Amino acid sequence: MKYGTLILHNGHELDPHTGALSIPIYQVSTFHQHDIDNLGKYGYSRSANPTREAFENTLAVLENGTHGYAFSSGMAAISSSLAILDQGDHVVATEDIYGGSYRILTCFFNKFGLTTTFVDMTKLENLEEAIRPNTRAVLMETPSNPLLKITDIVGVVGIARKHGLLTMIDNTFMSPYFLRPLDLGVDIVIHSATKFLGGHSDVLGGAVITKSEELASRIYFVQYGFGAVLGPQDCWLLLRGIKTLRARMELQQQSAMEIALWLKRQSWVSSVYYPGLSDHPGHEIVKSQAAGFGAVLSFETDTLERAKRIMKQVKLWSVAVSLGGVESILSYPVKMSHATVPPSERERLGITDNLIRLSVGLEDADDLIQDLDPNH
Ligand SMILES: Cc1ncc(COP(=O)(O)O)c(C=O)c1O
Repeated sequence: MKYGTLILHNGHELDPHTGALSIPIYQVSTFHQHDIDNLGKYGYSRSANPTREAFENTLAVLENGTHGYAFSSGMAAISSSLAILDQGDHVVATEDIYGGSYRILTCFFNKFGLTTTFVDMTKLENLEEAIRPNTRAVLMETPSNPLLKITDIVGVVGIARKHGLLTMIDNTFMSPYFLRPLDLGVDIVIHSATKFLGGHSDVLGGAVITKSEELASRIYFVQYGFGAVLGPQDCWLLLRGIKTLRARMELQQQSAMEIALWLKRQSWVSSVYYPGLSDHPGHEIVKSQAAGFGAVLSFETDTLERAKRIMKQVKLWSVAVSLGGVESILSYPVKMSHATVPPSERERLGITDNLIRLSVGLEDADDLIQDLDPNH
């Protein structure tokens, strides 16, 4: 079966009790037990809920894993994955990772003795050099945020395995439609389902997928114990969003490419970061490991005034945090996703005041281009 079909027919699309083509929203916290000596499959919605289960199983299939877990946000999914590690453990993470992930590692997990070294993961030797005797995990994000740097996933997995490290990846930008990291040997895939999986800017959610029984039980322990589970209504919205994942990803990517090529031709644009461009340093790697380039790109204007003018003039683009919706979103990393990263660190990473990130939606690309054009 081809992937586009699998999105809609994966064994979890029908309500097993009624045959309904939309999984009902089991808006319930607890379940009656008919036989106290033989408890039913469902006991309490924090441990399991049929709507959540349908969403979790769907994602497990789409990521080619065996176990999926849904969380109340992408950050809850990332935090709960990191919570399977122990006090004293060390993590190596992509340096221009999502700002929230940077914050939780440097301002929260550090309090419990989990330390992190951030490296430019595009150079595998940086990862090798950062590994210490107490390193236990590598956390990747590719394309990275907001500069769209590409990590060689197979290269990282090779190094991690040599040193006995767990590999985790934030696959939010690509979605399983374009990238399935478990197939490349990654241990744990994490999503902010708020973005492309949901696709409509109307729900927060997160997910973790693995194909290891042992890791699954450690993640489930945190999901159930910590309790940052996703509610049934939100699971339903995500199940509904996933049905159109292929159509959205294809069209949004096509427009992202058109916009990236247009930006490249503008004299007031100093850099364009989009892995789909043939001169992007990670272009060949992304082609070898993924089926597409995604619909997020960023660019730098020649002056701060011009960046501000664009953010003020746009009428079709929302100026907002987040990405992955059917509506195009323009965001300003220094004041939004990366506001918590210290200015000196941002400067070192190349996240400048003139940098604008675009999440391309389903509007006509010509209209989006006209709306962005400061000369229009
Ligand atoms: C790559 C990435 N990972 C994780 C998150 C966090 O997800 P959420 O906002 O659903 O908690 C975001 C949010 O922007 C993100 O862009």
